Amino acid sequence: MRVYFDNAATTPLSEEVLQTMLPYLREHQGNPSSIHADGRKARTAIEDARKTVANYLNASIGEIFFTSGGTESSNMVLKCAVRDLGVQRIITSKIEHHCVLHTVENLEKAGLVQVNYVNIDKKGKVDLEHLETLLQADNTKTLVSLMYANNEIGTLLDTEKVSALCQENQALFHSDTVQAVGHFPIDVQSMPINFLTGSAHKFHGPKGVGFVYINGDNIINPYINGGSQERNMRAGTENVAGIVGLAKAFELSCENMQERRKYIDELRSYFKVQLQAAIPDITFNGDHDGHYLHKVLSVSFPNSPKTELIVFNLDIAGISASGGSACSSGVEAGSHVMAALQPDDLSKTVRFSFSHYNTKEEVDYVIEKLKKVI
Ligand SMILES: Cc1ncc(COP(=O)(O)O)c(C=O)c1O
Repeated sequence: MRVYFDNAATTPLSEEVLQTMLPYLREHQGNPSSIHADGRKARTAIEDARKTVANYLNASIGEIFFTSGGTESSNMVLKCAVRDLGVQRIITSKIEHHCVLHTVENLEKAGLVQVNYVNIDKKGKVDLEHLETLLQADNTKTLVSLMYANNEIGTLLDTEKVSALCQENQALFHSDTVQAVGHFPIDVQSMPINFLTGSAHKFHGPKGVGFVYINGDNIINPYINGGSQERNMRAGTENVAGIVGLAKAFELSCENMQERRKYIDELRSYFKVQLQAAIPDITFNGDHDGHYLHKVLSVSFPNSPKTELIVFNLDIAGISASGGSACSSGVEAGSHVMAALQPDDLSKTVRFSFSHYNTKEEVDYVIEKLKKVI
């Protein structure tokens, strides 16, 4: 048996999504920039996909741009906001994904922005009073970049409050929503935001394709130069099958959101209870019984020779889980999120993350194996 409990790293491609993509890999070979019928077929597929994404976000179609994924989308937003919108200060947190943290660090190193890190508590929740103080302390043009759902510990941002604070203080608001789109309803009309990002492989779509929402008021210049694809914003022949797959996966996630969420949340609770009964001295990270991303459960196991190689031993037992985010797994340095939250804690953290394809039988299997490993 092989159990895949690493759905925050990536999710399995849905069969329905694959079937929707296949014609664009097999017979519809046209380049969307070609003006003949084959090209127009591909162009229509991309524009239909854009309409689907825009509809579910309550955005305009002109505000959605397809990219290669979450990393590119956040790079584009942060770098273009500094280059084209006069942003001189970025407020972010120490527990953002590296696609935001490293981009911000590089902008700072290049002397292009000043960076402020907002305080976070032990559960990874943003200190909103501190955010307000930072916003009010300085009236240079500011962009706030805070993630909607933390990929390692599952803590959620109070996006409504952050959006309101940014509006009151004339700051731009970017949220890395990669772990949230397709899992929570997002409506850019009721929650004003300037930029948000999505990645198809986090909601049962293909890898290597994503999107960025750029609010119509913020006109930025091309990020990748070349042809006039994506209305001049991102040159290069489009990943047609990927874009079609992204839209189908997004549609399925939004249409089945409540049902999937309920199922995954019940599975997570079942896992939590079984885990506590089997190994009482564990602790859970993040806002695990408050306002959390239902697909993530971050667990700390007491440091001992038996837990030292826990992720490795689980793998040998047929279980895929993660020590942190996928990008940092395998790297000895460990999780920058846990280091920011609990700098002196020596316990071993494992992130288990679920999808609607997982079952209670799989949970039982993982508990049995964990008991043996510990
Ligand atoms: C919160 C978050 N942001 C961004 C990314 C990067 O997305 P992509 O893999 O599409 O580049 C990830 C993926 O691990 C993520 O979890």
